[in-house]
Amino acid sequence: MARVVRRKRVLGPIASRNSGRGRTTLEWQESLCQAGQEYADKHSLPMKFVQGDAFSPKSGDHVLKCDHAVALHACGDLHVRLIQHAVNARTAAVSISPCCYHLINDEYYMPLSSIAKASHLKLDKDNLKLPLQESVTAGQSVRSKRFVEVSFRLGFDSLLRDRLGIASYVPVPSIQKSLLGEGFERFCIWAAKIKGITLPEGIDYHGFLAHGEERFFLVEQMETVRTIFRRPLELWLVLDRVLFLKEQGYEVSLGEFCERELTPRNVLIQGKLAQ
Ligand SMILES: C[S@@+](CC[C@H](N)C(=O)[O-])C[C@H]1O[C@@H](n2cnc3c(N)ncnc32)[C@H](O)[C@@H]1O
Repeated sequence: MARVVRRKRVLGPIASRNSGRGRTTLEWQESLCQAGQEYADKHSLPMKFVQGDAFSPKSGDHVLKCDHAVALHACGDLHVRLIQHAVNARTAAVSISPCCYHLINDEYYMPLSSIAKASHLKLDKDNLKLPLQESVTAGQSVRSKRFVEVSFRLGFDSLLRDRLGIASYVPVPSIQKSLLGEGFERFCIWAAKIKGITLPEGIDYHGFLAHGEERFFLVEQMETVRTIFRRPLELWLVLDRVLFLKEQGYEVSLGEFCERELTPRNVLIQGKLAQ
Protein backbone atom coordinates (compact mmCIF):
# COMPACT_ATOMS: atom_id res chain seq x y z
CA MET A 1 0.00 0.00 0.00
CA ALA A 2 1.43 3.35 -1.00
CA ARG A 3 1.72 6.22 1.42
CA VAL A 4 -0.61 9.11 0.65
CA VAL A 5 1.38 11.97 -0.75
CA ARG A 6 -0.18 15.27 0.14
CA ARG A 7 2.52 17.76 -0.70
CA LYS A 8 2.40 18.40 -4.41
CA ARG A 9 6.13 18.35 -4.90
CA VAL A 10 6.48 14.92 -3.27
CA LEU A 11 4.59 12.60 -5.63
CA GLY A 12 7.13 13.00 -8.45
CA PRO A 13 10.18 12.49 -6.19
CA ILE A 14 8.75 9.27 -4.72
CA ALA A 15 7.94 7.92 -8.17
CA SER A 16 11.35 8.98 -9.40
CA ARG A 17 13.18 7.47 -6.42
CA ASN A 18 11.22 4.21 -6.62
CA SER A 19 11.70 3.72 -10.34
CA GLY A 20 15.18 5.26 -10.55
CA ARG A 21 14.08 6.83 -13.82
CA GLY A 22 13.63 10.44 -14.80
CA ARG A 23 10.28 12.19 -14.30
CA THR A 24 8.70 15.16 -15.95
CA THR A 25 6.08 16.95 -13.86
CA LEU A 26 3.62 19.31 -15.50
CA GLU A 27 2.26 21.92 -13.09
CA TRP A 28 0.38 25.18 -13.63
CA GLN A 29 1.72 27.07 -10.61
CA GLU A 30 5.20 28.47 -11.10
CA SER A 31 5.91 28.53 -7.35
CA LEU A 32 5.19 24.80 -7.04
CA CYS A 33 7.44 24.09 -9.99
CA GLN A 34 10.27 26.05 -8.40
CA ALA A 35 9.82 24.39 -5.00
CA GLY A 36 9.68 20.96 -6.64
CA GLN A 37 12.76 21.58 -8.76
CA GLU A 38 14.73 22.83 -5.74
CA TYR A 39 13.76 19.70 -3.81
CA ALA A 40 14.67 17.40 -6.69
CA ASP A 41 18.03 19.11 -7.28
CA LYS A 42 18.86 19.01 -3.59
CA HIS A 43 18.21 15.26 -3.48
CA SER A 44 19.82 14.57 -6.86
CA LEU A 45 16.61 13.23 -8.33
CA PRO A 46 16.37 13.09 -12.14
CA MET A 47 13.27 15.28 -12.30
CA LYS A 48 12.18 18.13 -14.49
CA PHE A 49 9.32 20.43 -13.46
CA VAL A 50 7.59 22.09 -16.37
CA GLN A 51 5.29 25.05 -15.83
CA GLY A 52 2.40 24.74 -18.25
CA ASP A 53 -1.28 24.23 -18.91
CA ALA A 54 -2.37 20.60 -19.13
CA PHE A 55 -5.22 21.70 -21.40
CA SER A 56 -3.02 23.39 -23.99
CA PRO A 57 -2.71 21.47 -27.27
CA LYS A 58 1.05 21.11 -26.69
CA SER A 59 0.65 19.36 -23.31
CA GLY A 60 0.34 16.01 -25.09
CA ASP A 61 3.98 16.36 -26.23
CA HIS A 62 5.16 15.65 -22.68
CA VAL A 63 3.49 12.24 -22.81
CA LEU A 64 4.91 11.23 -26.20
CA LYS A 65 8.20 9.86 -24.91
CA CYS A 66 6.98 8.88 -21.49
CA ASP A 67 6.66 5.26 -20.35
CA HIS A 68 4.44 5.86 -17.32
CA ALA A 69 1.78 8.57 -16.96
CA VAL A 70 0.86 9.30 -13.33
CA ALA A 71 -1.78 11.56 -11.82
CA LEU A 72 -2.57 11.54 -8.11
CA HIS A 73 -5.71 13.50 -7.26
CA ALA A 74 -5.69 15.45 -10.50
CA CYS A 75 -9.11 17.06 -10.74
CA GLY A 76 -11.85 16.12 -13.23
CA ASP A 77 -10.83 16.99 -16.77
CA LEU A 78 -7.14 17.05 -15.78
CA HIS A 79 -6.80 13.31 -15.23
CA VAL A 80 -9.18 12.56 -18.10
CA ARG A 81 -6.95 14.60 -20.39
CA LEU A 82 -3.91 12.66 -19.19
CA ILE A 83 -5.66 9.35 -19.88
CA GLN A 84 -6.51 10.56 -23.40
CA HIS A 85 -2.93 11.70 -24.05
CA ALA A 86 -1.55 8.40 -22.75
CA VAL A 87 -3.92 6.38 -24.92
CA ASN A 88 -3.04 8.45 -28.00
CA ALA A 89 0.69 8.12 -27.33
CA ARG A 90 0.35 4.37 -26.53
CA THR A 91 2.09 5.02 -23.19
CA ALA A 92 3.16 1.71 -21.64
CA ALA A 93 1.71 2.35 -18.17
CA VAL A 94 -0.88 4.65 -16.64
CA SER A 95 -1.62 5.20 -12.93
CA ILE A 96 -4.51 7.44 -12.02
CA SER A 97 -6.16 8.34 -8.75
CA PRO A 98 -9.17 10.44 -9.76
CA CYS A 99 -10.80 13.23 -7.78
CA CYS A 100 -13.15 16.24 -8.18
CA TYR A 101 -15.25 14.61 -10.90
CA HIS A 102 -17.34 17.79 -11.19
CA LEU A 103 -14.44 20.00 -12.33
CA ILE A 104 -15.20 19.64 -16.02
CA ASN A 105 -15.60 22.11 -18.86
CA ASP A 106 -18.77 20.59 -20.27
CA GLU A 107 -22.13 21.13 -18.65
CA TYR A 108 -22.70 17.37 -18.41
CA TYR A 109 -20.37 14.44 -17.86
CA MET A 110 -18.97 13.12 -21.14
CA PRO A 111 -18.45 9.35 -20.76
CA LEU A 112 -15.25 7.84 -22.13
CA SER A 113 -16.07 4.17 -22.66
CA SER A 114 -18.56 2.92 -25.22
CA ILE A 115 -20.58 1.17 -22.48
CA ALA A 116 -20.96 4.36 -20.45
CA LYS A 117 -21.72 6.32 -23.62
CA ALA A 118 -24.63 3.96 -24.28
CA SER A 119 -26.04 4.55 -20.79
CA HIS A 120 -29.06 6.78 -20.20
CA LEU A 121 -27.39 8.27 -17.13
CA LYS A 122 -27.00 12.01 -17.62
CA LEU A 123 -24.87 13.57 -14.91
CA ASP A 124 -24.61 17.30 -14.31
CA LYS A 125 -21.93 18.98 -12.17
CA ASP A 126 -24.12 18.84 -9.09
CA ASN A 127 -24.53 15.08 -9.50
CA LEU A 128 -20.79 14.74 -10.03
CA LYS A 129 -20.10 16.50 -6.72
CA LEU A 130 -21.91 13.77 -4.81
CA PRO A 131 -18.92 11.40 -4.35
CA LEU A 132 -16.99 14.27 -2.72
CA GLN A 133 -19.72 15.25 -0.31
CA GLU A 134 -18.82 12.79 2.39
CA SER A 135 -17.17 13.49 5.64
CA VAL A 136 -15.40 10.25 6.56
CA THR A 137 -12.35 12.31 7.50
CA ALA A 138 -14.36 14.82 9.57
CA GLY A 139 -13.94 14.40 13.31
CA GLN A 140 -16.53 14.83 16.04
CA SER A 141 -15.68 18.49 16.53
CA VAL A 142 -16.24 19.29 12.83
CA ARG A 143 -19.56 17.44 12.95
CA SER A 144 -20.79 19.27 16.04
CA LYS A 145 -19.74 22.65 14.56
CA ARG A 146 -21.78 21.75 11.49
CA PHE A 147 -24.76 20.92 13.70
CA VAL A 148 -24.57 24.35 15.35
CA GLU A 149 -24.11 26.27 12.11
CA VAL A 150 -26.78 24.47 10.10
CA SER A 151 -29.27 24.63 13.01
CA PHE A 152 -28.63 28.39 13.31
CA ARG A 153 -29.18 28.90 9.59
CA LEU A 154 -32.37 26.84 9.53
CA GLY A 155 -33.61 28.50 12.73
CA PHE A 156 -33.03 31.94 11.19
CA ASP A 157 -34.92 30.81 8.09
CA SER A 158 -37.85 29.66 10.26
CA LEU A 159 -37.82 33.02 12.04
CA LEU A 160 -37.97 34.97 8.76
CA ARG A 161 -40.81 32.84 7.43
CA ASP A 162 -42.83 32.93 10.64
CA ARG A 163 -42.34 36.53 11.77
CA LEU A 164 -41.77 38.36 8.48
CA GLY A 165 -43.64 36.15 6.00
CA ILE A 166 -40.54 35.66 3.82
CA ALA A 167 -41.51 32.62 1.78
CA SER A 168 -38.21 31.62 0.17
CA TYR A 169 -34.86 30.69 1.71
CA VAL A 170 -32.59 33.70 2.27
CA PRO A 171 -29.00 32.56 1.80
CA VAL A 172 -26.66 33.94 4.43
CA PRO A 173 -22.95 34.20 3.54
CA SER A 174 -20.30 32.15 5.31
CA ILE A 175 -19.66 33.17 8.86
CA GLN A 176 -16.57 33.48 11.03
CA LYS A 177 -16.79 30.33 13.13
CA SER A 178 -16.04 32.27 16.35
CA LEU A 179 -19.34 34.16 15.95
CA LEU A 180 -21.24 30.90 16.28
CA GLY A 181 -19.96 30.67 19.85
CA GLU A 182 -21.85 33.88 20.71
CA GLY A 183 -25.19 32.13 20.37
CA PHE A 184 -28.23 32.01 18.12
CA GLU A 185 -29.58 35.47 18.93
CA ARG A 186 -26.27 37.14 17.98
CA PHE A 187 -26.21 35.05 14.80
CA CYS A 188 -29.70 36.25 13.83
CA ILE A 189 -28.81 39.90 14.49
CA TRP A 190 -25.63 39.51 12.39
CA ALA A 191 -27.43 37.69 9.54
CA ALA A 192 -30.31 40.20 9.49
CA LYS A 193 -27.87 43.13 9.33
CA ILE A 194 -25.95 41.56 6.44
CA LYS A 195 -29.18 40.94 4.52
CA GLY A 196 -30.59 44.41 5.32
CA ILE A 197 -33.53 42.95 7.25
CA THR A 198 -35.06 44.66 10.30
CA LEU A 199 -36.02 42.12 12.93
CA PRO A 200 -39.23 42.70 14.90
CA GLU A 201 -39.35 42.99 18.70
CA GLY A 202 -40.13 40.08 21.01
CA ILE A 203 -38.60 37.21 19.08
CA ASP A 204 -38.66 33.79 20.77
CA TYR A 205 -35.06 32.91 19.85
CA HIS A 206 -35.15 29.79 21.98
CA GLY A 207 -38.18 28.44 20.08
CA PHE A 208 -36.76 29.23 16.62
CA LEU A 209 -33.45 27.60 17.51
CA ALA A 210 -35.31 24.45 18.62
CA HIS A 211 -37.10 24.50 15.27
CA GLY A 212 -33.78 24.89 13.44
CA GLU A 213 -32.39 21.88 15.30
CA GLU A 214 -35.43 19.79 14.38
CA ARG A 215 -35.00 20.75 10.74
CA PHE A 216 -31.30 19.85 10.92
CA PHE A 217 -32.19 16.25 11.76
CA LEU A 218 -34.70 16.15 8.90
CA VAL A 219 -32.03 17.43 6.49
CA GLU A 220 -29.64 14.77 7.81
CA GLN A 221 -32.21 12.05 7.07
CA MET A 222 -32.64 13.33 3.53
CA GLU A 223 -28.86 13.39 3.16
CA THR A 224 -28.72 9.76 4.25
CA VAL A 225 -30.72 8.78 1.17
CA ARG A 226 -28.24 10.64 -1.07
CA THR A 227 -25.36 9.03 0.82
CA ILE A 228 -26.37 5.60 -0.43
CA PHE A 229 -25.51 6.67 -3.97
CA ARG A 230 -22.12 8.27 -3.26
CA ARG A 231 -19.74 5.34 -3.56
CA PRO A 232 -21.74 3.55 -6.33
CA LEU A 233 -21.70 6.75 -8.39
CA GLU A 234 -17.96 7.18 -7.84
CA LEU A 235 -17.37 3.56 -8.87
CA TRP A 236 -19.50 4.10 -11.98
CA LEU A 237 -17.23 7.00 -12.94
CA VAL A 238 -14.09 5.05 -12.08
CA LEU A 239 -15.26 2.03 -14.06
CA ASP A 240 -15.88 4.29 -17.06
CA ARG A 241 -12.15 5.14 -16.99
CA VAL A 242 -11.23 1.48 -16.49
CA LEU A 243 -13.41 0.31 -19.39
CA PHE A 244 -12.08 3.04 -21.65
CA LEU A 245 -8.50 1.94 -20.97
CA LYS A 246 -9.48 -1.68 -21.60
CA GLU A 247 -11.13 -0.72 -24.89
CA GLN A 248 -7.88 0.98 -25.84
CA GLY A 249 -5.87 -2.22 -25.29
CA TYR A 250 -4.75 -1.84 -21.68
CA GLU A 251 -4.78 -4.50 -18.98
CA VAL A 252 -6.31 -2.67 -16.06
CA SER A 253 -6.34 -3.27 -12.34
CA LEU A 254 -8.41 -1.36 -9.85
CA GLY A 255 -7.49 -0.98 -6.20
CA GLU A 256 -7.28 1.31 -3.21
CA PHE A 257 -3.99 2.90 -2.20
CA CYS A 258 -4.88 3.91 1.36
CA GLU A 259 -7.60 3.62 3.98
CA ARG A 260 -10.77 5.61 3.31
CA GLU A 261 -10.39 7.38 6.65
CA LEU A 262 -7.20 9.01 5.36
CA THR A 263 -8.85 10.15 2.15
CA PRO A 264 -12.02 8.81 0.56
CA ARG A 265 -10.44 9.52 -2.84
CA ASN A 266 -8.38 6.37 -2.48
CA VAL A 267 -9.07 4.62 -5.78
CA LEU A 268 -6.10 3.71 -7.93
CA ILE A 269 -6.50 2.74 -11.58
CA GLN A 270 -3.44 1.04 -13.06
CA GLY A 271 -3.26 0.34 -16.77
CA LYS A 272 -0.56 -1.57 -18.63
CA LEU A 273 -0.51 -1.64 -22.39
CA ALA A 274 -1.05 -5.27 -23.39
CA GLN A 275 1.80 -6.70 -25.50
C1 LIG B 1 -5.19 18.42 -6.44
S1 LIG B 1 -3.65 19.01 -6.95
C2 LIG B 1 -2.68 17.59 -7.22
C3 LIG B 1 -2.32 16.92 -5.97
C4 LIG B 1 -0.94 16.34 -5.96
N1 LIG B 1 -0.78 15.31 -6.95
C5 LIG B 1 -0.68 15.77 -4.58
O1 LIG B 1 -0.55 14.59 -4.42
O2 LIG B 1 -0.68 16.55 -3.63
C6 LIG B 1 -3.92 19.56 -8.58
C7 LIG B 1 -2.75 20.32 -9.13
O3 LIG B 1 -3.01 20.57 -10.52
C8 LIG B 1 -2.55 21.86 -10.84
N2 LIG B 1 -3.31 22.30 -12.00
C9 LIG B 1 -4.58 22.74 -12.05
N3 LIG B 1 -4.94 23.05 -13.30
C10 LIG B 1 -3.87 22.78 -14.09
C11 LIG B 1 -3.62 22.90 -15.48
N4 LIG B 1 -4.56 23.32 -16.32
N5 LIG B 1 -2.41 22.55 -15.94
C12 LIG B 1 -1.45 22.09 -15.09
N6 LIG B 1 -1.63 21.96 -13.76
C13 LIG B 1 -2.82 22.30 -13.26
C14 LIG B 1 -2.82 22.67 -9.60
O4 LIG B 1 -2.02 23.83 -9.56
C15 LIG B 1 -2.49 21.67 -8.50
O5 LIG B 1 -1.16 21.76 -8.11
